[in-house]
Amino acid sequence: MILVIVILLLVVGTVLFHFLSPWWFTPIASNWSAIDDTISITMWVTGVVFIAVNLFVAYAIYKFRYNKNRKAAYEPENKKLEIWLTVGTSLGIAAMLAPGLIVWANFVQVPDEAAEIEVLAQQWRWSYRFPGQDGKLGNVSTHLVSESNPFGINPQDPAGQDDILVAGNEVHLPEGKPVKVLLRSLDVLHNFAVPQFRVKMDLVPGMVSYFWFTPTRAGTYEILCQELCGLAHHAMRGQVVVDTPQEYQNWLNSHPTFSQTQIVVKGDPHTGQSLYAVCAACHGMEGEGNALTNSPKLSGLSGWYLEHQLQLYKQKIRGAHKEDIYGRQMAPMAAVLADDTAMRNVLAYIDTLPDKPAVDTITGNVNRGRNYYVNCASCHGDRGEGNFFMQAPRLAGQQDWYLKRQLQNFKKGIRGGHPDDFNGRQMAMMAAILKSEQAIDDLVAYLNTL
Ligand code: CUA
Repeated sequence: MILVIVILLLVVGTVLFHFLSPWWFTPIASNWSAIDDTISITMWVTGVVFIAVNLFVAYAIYKFRYNKNRKAAYEPENKKLEIWLTVGTSLGIAAMLAPGLIVWANFVQVPDEAAEIEVLAQQWRWSYRFPGQDGKLGNVSTHLVSESNPFGINPQDPAGQDDILVAGNEVHLPEGKPVKVLLRSLDVLHNFAVPQFRVKMDLVPGMVSYFWFTPTRAGTYEILCQELCGLAHHAMRGQVVVDTPQEYQNWLNSHPTFSQTQIVVKGDPHTGQSLYAVCAACHGMEGEGNALTNSPKLSGLSGWYLEHQLQLYKQKIRGAHKEDIYGRQMAPMAAVLADDTAMRNVLAYIDTLPDKPAVDTITGNVNRGRNYYVNCASCHGDRGEGNFFMQAPRLAGQQDWYLKRQLQNFKKGIRGGHPDDFNGRQMAMMAAILKSEQAIDDLVAYLNTL
């Protein structure tokens, strides 16, 4: 009898939970309401079967409970019951599978008017490519991928010259226009998923997968990688902003074409030297850094990293947090560099400065630090040399007090807390594994040995 009550409570509880629980689909922002319908159909079919089977079990336990005057009858065959159950089960399974097959066919049957966009995945970030004026994406090959050609576009292919390249993790799309999303991976399996659009598809190295959808609601939505792709898989996130067609066009126009990225003029160190005087006041004549002015060492850092940080300072993405005392000092200094040419000239000069190792000030357990560093090495390199493709700066030779403060800032969200600082946010998620000040000291002590 107790078992009957337990089964009845289980059924009532499950049904109540299903209808009253706050966990349900996020509000939909695309045309794929059919995907929600297929899930609802599955819920109804399995729900009805779940209730029917459990009620039958409860009924059978009650009705045929032990009675010493009763004997069980043996009935191995019942044709009528078997036909009835087989037909019922077949109909139920067909009702669950058939709508899914229809929706899947539509999901990969792209309408002619859909605009193409390519999503490129690599450990652990997203980037995007749009066809230019000609409406055609150029040929690509992973063999052509380099620091100056991160998409691996074939420079001989005329269709690729006007392709628009978006390096950040954020992409914009126009509201109400269908898009065909082409998916490509540079390294391992990834998965592109945006819950609000109800879209999700693997990116497989060596092939291009695709699907299409129409964004139907303006807003900002998170892109998640939903395929375990290594250490920082959880930090591989991006953003889709659905704009009005005009805002979208403005955003798209602010990005360079492939041919524009190929003609970047190199900075002139001679002109940069005079501009560097402003920086030298804090960072030192040779960019050696200065603990008294809280200024890190600049010599030995890659130009791409310094340029990116200067841009973040100029755009008030870095050095904007109210507790980032030293970053806030740096922000107006970055603004002194009026344009990209001035910036490249200074960077060209910094590149000529001698790279002298910094003096160690922090001690810790180097062996423990080495264990922590295993996590860092997958982006920053085994010797802390940095990696452009991971957007991970060099750590070796940097001043340890600076590294320590940055780790603390990342942990507290003082750095990497800005929604537009994608690399910083990723680093903040990674810094969270250092649970104590001692752990930071141990790690930094190990970095001093590199
Ligand atoms: Cu990429 Cu998980």
